[in-house]
Amino acid sequence: MAASHILLFCLTVSFGEGAVGNDRIEHTRLYGNINAYAYYFAELLVGSPPQAVSVIVDTGSALCGFPCVGCSHCGNHLNPLFNMKASNTSQSLPCGMGCDRCQADRCGYLESYTEGSSISGVWFKDLVRLNGSDGDNQAVFASLGCHTDERKLFYTQTVNGIFGLAPHKITGSSNVLRDMFKDQAHVRDAVFAFCLAEWGGMLTVGGYDSSYNAPGETLSWVNLHHVGYYGVGLQQIIFDGIVVATQRSFGTTVVDTGTTFTYLPQEIYYSLEQALTNRCSNEKCAASAEGDSCWKLTSGSHAFPSHFPNISLMFTSGSLQVAVNWPATAYMFRGGRGDVWCYAFANNGMSRETVLGISFFLHKNIVFDTTQSKLGVAEANCPQHHYHAKINTDFPEPEPSFDLPPARAAKAQTQWVAIMLGAAGVLLLLLSCAMCAWAYCMMDTEDTNDKDTEMGSRLVYPAK
Ligand SMILES: *[C@@H]1O[C@H](CO)[C@@H](O)[C@H](O)[C@H]1NC(C)=O
Ligand SMILES: *[C@@H]1O[C@H](CO)[C@@H](O)[C@H](O)[C@H]1NC(C)=O
Ligand SMILES: *[C@@H]1O[C@H](CO)[C@@H](O)[C@H](O)[C@H]1NC(C)=O
Repeated sequence: MAASHILLFCLTVSFGEGAVGNDRIEHTRLYGNINAYAYYFAELLVGSPPQAVSVIVDTGSALCGFPCVGCSHCGNHLNPLFNMKASNTSQSLPCGMGCDRCQADRCGYLESYTEGSSISGVWFKDLVRLNGSDGDNQAVFASLGCHTDERKLFYTQTVNGIFGLAPHKITGSSNVLRDMFKDQAHVRDAVFAFCLAEWGGMLTVGGYDSSYNAPGETLSWVNLHHVGYYGVGLQQIIFDGIVVATQRSFGTTVVDTGTTFTYLPQEIYYSLEQALTNRCSNEKCAASAEGDSCWKLTSGSHAFPSHFPNISLMFTSGSLQVAVNWPATAYMFRGGRGDVWCYAFANNGMSRETVLGISFFLHKNIVFDTTQSKLGVAEANCPQHHYHAKINTDFPEPEPSFDLPPARAAKAQTQWVAIMLGAAGVLLLLLSCAMCAWAYCMMDTEDTNDKDTEMGSRLVYPAK
């Protein structure tokens, strides 16, 4: 991917304040959490009469799709499978011009994602709208994907499908966001915005809602590249006056709500981790280290890592640089026990690519202005929403996970040690039994705690 950033000088873009009502801004609630789900999701209403479909919000891909009745390999999800036959506005799309995959005379798709999952199915058109107040949100006729096969995370995930919000470059078909932007009677500008809280948040289309901004906060605008994906120019990571990383090493930097953590090229990841270790050792941040990537707060559960430093991310903005604050409540996430916080940034290995995932978005109003090619960022108090399943009571909201990385490492080690000691013979039998008992206890606790968790980090970003 060529990162050709469009350089624009700071334009004074002014949008009306985000009052609800006839302002041509659609709102929909988001649900989800880093630890319990590894993604955030919205609810779409599809077809006539409308059927509810839960979808992961993903600025890293372009397809909006979900499993349909007749699927040959689909998992068990939050909502019933979408039934095209029950919608009197559904139209299937035949093969032909602009269709690059044909499946039983219908135009199809196959999409693979970075972490190895994939979906395939057939395109159809139908009315779709963001769930929310009827006065605000209007249905548009859009191309949607009907999955006939789900693999790996798409099969096991709780929610039904995916809502790709990236500029379409994959199939040539239209995508829902673009169709919404065409509906100018109800959608004011080609703008959408995310405000993600620890649990849930809000997505707006047509504009943004500045009432979420923290007191005194206004948006800072940075350059946004939006051909095929959303890219920004990340120049530096700084904290406490220490430059952790500079310009060239970041590679292409993608802004992606479909990725759980923020992925940094290896050398940047190690320098940031090292700098934080130095800064926070000996309880200087009111926390003690738990393994390589977690900290146990001395102030107990329900506290926040308020003594950890704020990190500054420096972005390209025209010919200038803009600093975006990345607070510890975003670059770390709360583990299930409440007092342990773990890094929500990770090592992208030898890949020369940086992915700003959900941990970049948290507690910010982030505005994608696709007309001005600008990304607006302000610190915000985003609305929290917990999903309460009414439709299908088999799916209560997952509890926060107890499945912390150090616990998982300890478990693997304990079992290994137990096996080794067992093999060492009579002399070590007593110790071995003790270890086995301990390992068993560890497994037991974890299994109990594991059952409500969904998965680890996830990258919903199309593989190239
Ligand atoms: C299609 O369904 C909608 C919603 O249930 C209904 O109002 C409408 O009359 C139906 N149209 C036809 C042509 O059946
Ligand atoms: C869908 O919208 C309705 C009306 O605003 C609301 O009562 C309901 O809770 C929403 N459902 C979800 C899952 O957001
Ligand atoms: C981090 O920044 C926030 C403002 O966003 C401020 O309230 C807080 O005190 C800062 N924390 C530290 C440790 O400097």
